[in-house]
Amino acid sequence: MSKLSGKTVLLIVGGGVAAYKCLDLVRRLAERGAKTRVVMTAAARQFIAPLAFASLSGEKVYDDLFSLTDETEMGHIELSRSSDLVVVAPATADLIAKAAGGLANDLASTLLIATDKQPIFVPAMNVRMWLNAATARNVAQLRADGCGFLGPVEGEMACGEFGPGRMIEPLEIVAGLERILEQTQPQALLAGPGPLKGKRAIVTAGPTQEPIDPVRYISNKSSGKQGYAIAAALAQAGADVTLVSGPVGLTAPAGVRLSKVETAREMLAAVEAALPADVYVGAAAVADWRVENAGARKTKKGAKGPPQLSLVENPDILSAVGHLPAKRRPALVVGFAAETENLVANARGKLQRKKCDLVVANDVGADNAIFGGDHNTIVIVDARGADAWPALPKREAAQRLARLIATRLEQKR
Ligand code: C5P
Repeated sequence: MSKLSGKTVLLIVGGGVAAYKCLDLVRRLAERGAKTRVVMTAAARQFIAPLAFASLSGEKVYDDLFSLTDETEMGHIELSRSSDLVVVAPATADLIAKAAGGLANDLASTLLIATDKQPIFVPAMNVRMWLNAATARNVAQLRADGCGFLGPVEGEMACGEFGPGRMIEPLEIVAGLERILEQTQPQALLAGPGPLKGKRAIVTAGPTQEPIDPVRYISNKSSGKQGYAIAAALAQAGADVTLVSGPVGLTAPAGVRLSKVETAREMLAAVEAALPADVYVGAAAVADWRVENAGARKTKKGAKGPPQLSLVENPDILSAVGHLPAKRRPALVVGFAAETENLVANARGKLQRKKCDLVVANDVGADNAIFGGDHNTIVIVDARGADAWPALPKREAAQRLARLIATRLEQKR
């Protein structure tokens, strides 16, 4: 039986000549037991009559953001949430740009930012449009946000040119969707209600910056990649996530609430403001010290020689959360330990001192390859023992951690 059997696909049809292939796509999906709800952009209606899609899908075709009858029958929020897969085909340069920029000025684009699924784009456009720098940027952005892409392929185009940009065939789209449904991560988590549905999570990520004066600061090499990936994985698993982030060059994952901070004290205040939560993940590399005598003005080089900085200890955010009274403390408090020696022993010390339920320990080694890199080698340390994971891309490590968090929360019930 096809993985598509019993699934509902929201098919957003963009304005390109390849829209005609989507009539066949609706049939192929129906053959596999999937129901298709079609949304057409105004441009798509120039190519294909809505009646053709309505006849093949056996469902009303939606095209109007402001239709009162639609809103009383099925509002745009419901339409965007009640499907197992959201597929954009043909995904035109315009639809891709709108989705990457978060624009919402018609039903199709509004659905793409109102949905709780990761949309799957099936691009179709002229080769120059596909290779255009703006399109490439938008595609990269959507991929970074976790969206899926099927195609395009190289081939002859309706306009007579040849190159990449041609939409894949309906049967290939169907096979691609089946593959996505088979993967456990990440789309399968998104397709269902998610094991963390109804749970609130706070994730801290990145470094903090502690001012020396208005233009100088003390910081560290944390890139924020692992924390951002954890926030994304928890959101994909259905959690309501607040990501409290120090200064990093990353975009917030889709569906995650971002709270930007600079200093450790600001991070603590943002975490407190985001409480209560079921899960706290302290992935940030919080600066241990701040400058007590930070200058209000830029310190000048001069005859007095280098300034003497006096350091004071920053609040330990993880420890503060771990030691909260039971009714305010998140059920699961997860800390990180970046160590260069005695990994497990040091992580176990942190587990006890900071009152965590889990510590994600990683050996940052002498070469510091973990900071800023894309892989992580983790040992999970808890009261029961230590579990060494293989080296994993940070995104996969995050997904595995999200699954572990879901299991541990379930065991606590
Ligand atoms: O003690 P150490 O800094 O190695 O502990 C790391 C863990 O503690 C991380 O989870 C980090 O987010 C957290 N931490 C914190 N506040 C600090 C220092 C570390 O929350 N001031």
